[in-house]
This record gives sequence, C-alpha cells and structure tokens, in this order.
Amino acid sequence: MSNVAVITGAAQGIGRRTAQVLNEQGWSLLLLDLQSVGTSEYSSALALAGDISDEQFVESAAKQCVEKFGRVDALVNNAGITQDNLAMRMKDEEWDEVIAVNMTATFKLAKAVQRGMMKRRNGRIINIASVVGVMGNPGQCNYVASKAGMIGWSKAMGQEVASRGITVNCVAPGFIATSMTEVLTDDQKAKISATIPMQKMGSAQDIAAAVTYLASEEAGYVTGATIHVNGGMAMI
Ligand code: NAI
Repeated sequence: MSNVAVITGAAQGIGRRTAQVLNEQGWSLLLLDLQSVGTSEYSSALALAGDISDEQFVESAAKQCVEKFGRVDALVNNAGITQDNLAMRMKDEEWDEVIAVNMTATFKLAKAVQRGMMKRRNGRIINIASVVGVMGNPGQCNYVASKAGMIGWSKAMGQEVASRGITVNCVAPGFIATSMTEVLTDDQKAKISATIPMQKMGSAQDIAAAVTYLASEEAGYVTGATIHVNGGMAMI
C-alpha cells in the first residue's frame, strides 16, 4: 500500500510541485485548495475544492481521505496568504484572515489527522513557514505572526506526539519564484536577489525537496526542526 499525503494549497506553486514529487515517489495524495485541482497528472489522487479556514471542510476532507486511501501518513500545511499593511493601518479582517488560513487551519488539520497517526504510531506533519517568521518583515505583521506561530506550534506539538512516532517540522522558504512573488516588479526582485548570497530566487522544487525529505522514513529522528531553504539569505 502506498503512503498517503494531504497537501493544502496544491493547485500551484510550492504545493503543486510538492504533490508532483511525492507522486513520483509513489505517494497517494489528497489535494486541497480553494481552486479546483486537476488530478490527471497524478497516479493516485483525490482533489477537494474548499477553504481550509472552514472547519467543516477540514473535517470532511480528513474523513474523505481515510475513506478513499485508508489513512493519512503525512500532512503538508502549505496553503498560505498575505494581506500586507503597516500594523497601524491593518484592518481586523486582514489580521484575522491571515491568521485563520496560515495558522489556525494548520492546527485544525493536524487535529483532524492526529488520532489516526497516533494509533498507527507513524506520521509526518510538515508546515511551510517562512524566513520572515524568524527575521520579521515590516508591513507583514499578520503574516510574520502566523509563520512564527507555525514554528512555535510545531515545537510544542512535536513534543506532544514524538513518543507516538509522529514528527512535526517546518520548512522555511526564503524568496521563491511562484505567483506569490510574481506580483513584485523586476526592479524589486533584482533588489531582493542582490541581498541573497546565491544571488537568485529559489524554485518550488527547492522547497519540495526539503518537504519530501521530512516526509521520508529517513527523517524519522527529525522533529521540532525548521529547515531554512533560502539561498543563504538568513543563516539561522
Ligand atoms: P501560491 O500563492 O502560489 O499558492 C498558494 C495556494 O494556496 C494557492 O493555490 C491558493 O489557492 C491556496 N490557498 C490560499 N488560501 C487558501 C484557503 N483558504 N484554502 C485552501 N487553499 C488556499 O503560494 P506559494 O508561493 O506556492 O506559497 C506556498 C506557501 O509557501 C505559503 O504558505 C507561503 O506563505 C509560503 N512561502 C512562500 C514564499 C515565496 O517566496 N513564494 C516564501 C516563504 C513562504
């Protein structure tokens, strides 16, 4: 029987590349996204369109995954949003929505799959954080809080479930070429790239490689960790 992963935000960018790599490694996939995701490129996948900040959607998705594939071996909390503003001008909704999608949904999804993982004494929870969750970034206090929250939550959760064979880790991307960074002008991209020792943006593949390592059997003794994949932008 193949391993089973749930991936949020799987329609594009880092989530889609992660799904492709896990598929190449023989995993079955439950793909969650606001947008509908085509499954024809995968050998064994179910896609559900919905909002991960909706608790009912999360619970129903976890149930459907078990019905279709029998269990969940790995949860990749990848879906994330930004709603940038200076703290002074930030609207409550901008704060609430970013925290709900990036942080609260992570907790709820993990809760929905945790019991099965505990029973089987095996599981991988992998959270896509961000370098700014450690470094901070002006204009992104909501996003930064959500990513820092993810890192702290992984450490507490990692301690709670370690004895049950479940690992909880983060991958913290630096500056990665996806639609999230596509909104920047060429000039902005060049300025940011100049501050990165490797002098270029990373790719979704760079992040997918770290995620698939954490999902692997070989990473069984790694928990509560954050793997920074940022071209040397922040050596932390
Ligand atoms: P993206 O914007 O290309 O893809 C995000 C996906 O998540 C989209 O398909 C979107 O529809 C989905 N999504 C958003 N809100 C959702 C919701 N409420 N329910 C279900 N699906 C939802 O983003 P990208 O660049 O692939 O980022 C993936 C993760 O990596 C995010 O958590 C992001 O914060 C993080 N990250 C990205 C960096 C970058 O430079 N691209 C840098 C650091 C972190």
